[in-house]
Amino acid sequence: MFQRTLLAGLTGMLMLTSVAANADTVSDDKAVKMANAAGCFTCHSLKHKDLKNGAKPVGPAWEDVALQYKDKPGAADFLTRIVLEGSNPYASHWKNKAAGIAMPPNAVAISEGDARQLVFWILNH
Ligand code: HEC
Repeated sequence: MFQRTLLAGLTGMLMLTSVAANADTVSDDKAVKMANAAGCFTCHSLKHKDLKNGAKPVGPAWEDVALQYKDKPGAADFLTRIVLEGSNPYASHWKNKAAGIAMPPNAVAISEGDARQLVFWILNH
């Protein structure tokens, strides 16, 4: 019994390690496919765009996200939770670069593992 628990624990640790090791190695192609499949580009673009008449995009461009969070410790975990659970509707971080509304939860559209990989990719671009 003890051995089996130990084994399960070890297997879990190994799986976590391999997820962490793969997290930042996803290719551009795969990241864009995941984002397309999850509908992220309905509201986001990769590069910052100035829209006509001073209008702002729904969500911030991912290059702006990378600039804002690149050097912040814990950003990948923080952002993965926000992608899955949605952002705080009463505290927009992006009033200057996006419309200022909240992001809805995306957990119906993307798995936690894929969301984590995508966030790592966003932060490294
Ligand atoms: C319906 C529109 C919409 C969709 C779909 C959407 N987002 Fe967002 N996203 C937003 C908005 C709006 C914000 C800005 C939230 C804020 O101001 O706090 C945002 C913010 C973010 C941020 C920055 C969060 C922060 O606190 O600064 C990340 C990272 C992000 N989105 C990733 C994703 C990913 C990955 C997907 C696809 C799985 C996705 N978004 C799908 C609208 C969307």
